[in-house]
Amino acid sequence: MNKILILDDEKFLREGIEKILRKKGFKVFSGKNGIEGLEILKENAVDIIITDLRMPDMDGAEFIHTIRENGLRIPVIVLTAFGTIEQAVETLRGGASDFLTKPFELDQLLNRIKDLLHPKDTSLTNKGEKGDILGNSPAIKNALELTLKGAQKDIPILLQGETGTGKEVFARAIHRNSKRSKGNYISVNCGAIAQELIESELFGYMKGAFTGAYEDKEGIFQAADGGTVFLDEIGDLSMTAQVKLLRFLENSTFMKVGGTKEKKVDIRLIFATNRDLRSLIKEKKFREDLYYRINIFPVFIPSLRERLDDIEILAKKFLAESKSGMSISSEVLKLMKKHNWPGNIRELKHFIERMSIISDSDEIMPEDVPPDFFNAVMQKEYASSEHLGKYMDVKNKVVRSFDFNYFSNLLDSTGWNINQASRLSGVSRKTIYQKIEDLELKKDLKT
Ligand SMILES: Nc1ncnc2c1ncn2[C@@H]1O[C@H](COP(=O)(O)OP(=O)(O)OP(=O)(O)O)[C@@H](O)[C@H]1O
Ligand SMILES: [Mg+2]
Repeated sequence: MNKILILDDEKFLREGIEKILRKKGFKVFSGKNGIEGLEILKENAVDIIITDLRMPDMDGAEFIHTIRENGLRIPVIVLTAFGTIEQAVETLRGGASDFLTKPFELDQLLNRIKDLLHPKDTSLTNKGEKGDILGNSPAIKNALELTLKGAQKDIPILLQGETGTGKEVFARAIHRNSKRSKGNYISVNCGAIAQELIESELFGYMKGAFTGAYEDKEGIFQAADGGTVFLDEIGDLSMTAQVKLLRFLENSTFMKVGGTKEKKVDIRLIFATNRDLRSLIKEKKFREDLYYRINIFPVFIPSLRERLDDIEILAKKFLAESKSGMSISSEVLKLMKKHNWPGNIRELKHFIERMSIISDSDEIMPEDVPPDFFNAVMQKEYASSEHLGKYMDVKNKVVRSFDFNYFSNLLDSTGWNINQASRLSGVSRKTIYQKIEDLELKKDLKT
C-alpha cells in the first residue's frame, strides 16, 4: 500500500483529499503545517508528499527545504493558489517535483501521483493495461502514432479535441517521450489564470513593474528551461500575452513584464484547445500570425463517439481503478456504446465511478443506470432511421424502458413503500401495483 502525506492548513480541503486518497487505497497521513509534517516523517516512511505553500508556523517551501537538507528524496507535489505561482515555481528549484494550482481537478492530482509512483508506466505506446493512453480503435492509434513522431522532433505541438478527450494526458506523454523527459514539465491553464496575471506568470516581472511587484520574479518559462511548458486552453490567452508568445516562438526570447533585457530559454511548447481557433481569429480574439506559429504540428484527439469500440477497455480500466472488484453486464456495455458521450473519457470515467457506487451487486446491471442516461440513449436510439418501425411499436418500447427505469428508481428510493411512492410520483397506488406486475419489477433487485 502506497503512503501519502498531505499538508494543508485548510481543514476542509485537507480532509477532502484525505478521504478520496483513502478510497483509492492509499494510506494517508496529514498535518496542518510543515512542523507537523516533519513530526510525521520521523515516525513514518511515505512515498509521496502533497503540500500547500502558505501555512502558518512552517510553510511549504521551508518544509521542502528542510527535508531535502536531511537527504529525503521523496517526491513532493506542491498545491498553490493563483497569485502564488511564482513561489510555486521557486519550489521546483527548491526541490519540489511538481505543482498544481488550486482549484484543481481531482483527476489531475491522481494522475500526478500515478506518474510519480510509476514513472515507467508512462510510455505513449499502446501497451495495453499499463499504458496511459488506452485504445485499439484506428482513430486513437492514428493520433498516437502521429503524436509520438512529433514528440521526438523538438517542435511545438497543438493538441485539438473536445473536452475530456485526453489532451492533458497526451501533453504529458509528449514530454515523457521527448529528449526533454528529464527536464521540468509545467502545465499552465491559460483559461484559469486571471488575464492580468498571466503575462507575469509566464514571463516573470521586474521590481516595480506594477503595484505589488516588490522584487524581481522569474516566470514559468524560465523555470521550465530545458524542459516543456504545456499551455492549455490557449484560446483564452490575453492579447498582450499573445504578442509576447509570438515573439518567443520567433526567436526564443522574451522580456519580463516591466523589463528591458531580452532573455533566452530553451523550452518545448505544447498547446491545447477545445475551441475553434479559426473562429476566434474571425472574432479578433486570437492573432492569426500566432495561429500559424502554433499550428505547425496539429494533432486531433478523437472524441469517444469516434471510437466506441474502446469503451469496453476504458470502462474496465476505470472499474479496476475503483478497486470495487465489479464487472459490467453486457447489456450495460451495449447501452454505453449507444450513448453520445459529450464529455468523452472524463464523462465515461465519472459514469463508471458513479455506477460502482450505486450498484449493490458485483455486476453493473441496466437497473443501476440512472434514468437520465438511459433516456438519452433511448431517445437517440429510436430517433435513428434504423429503428423506424411502426410508430406505436417504437413508442411502446421507449415508454416501457422509461417506465421500467422510472418505477424501479421510484420504488428503490422509497424502500418500496407504495404509499410514499404514490405521493411522490402523483401516480395512484393501483397504477403502481399494475406497473410492478407489468414490468416485472422485483424488490430484491436493489434493496
Ligand atoms: N486514453 C486514455 N486512457 C485512460 N484515461 C484517459 C485517457 N484519456 C483521458 N483519460 C482520462 O480522462 C480524463 C480527461 O482527460 P483530460 O483532462 O486529459 O482531457 P482534456 O482533453 O484535457 O479535457 P478539457 O478540454 O476539458 O481540459 C482524465 O481523468 C484522464 O486521466
Ligand atoms: Mg485539459
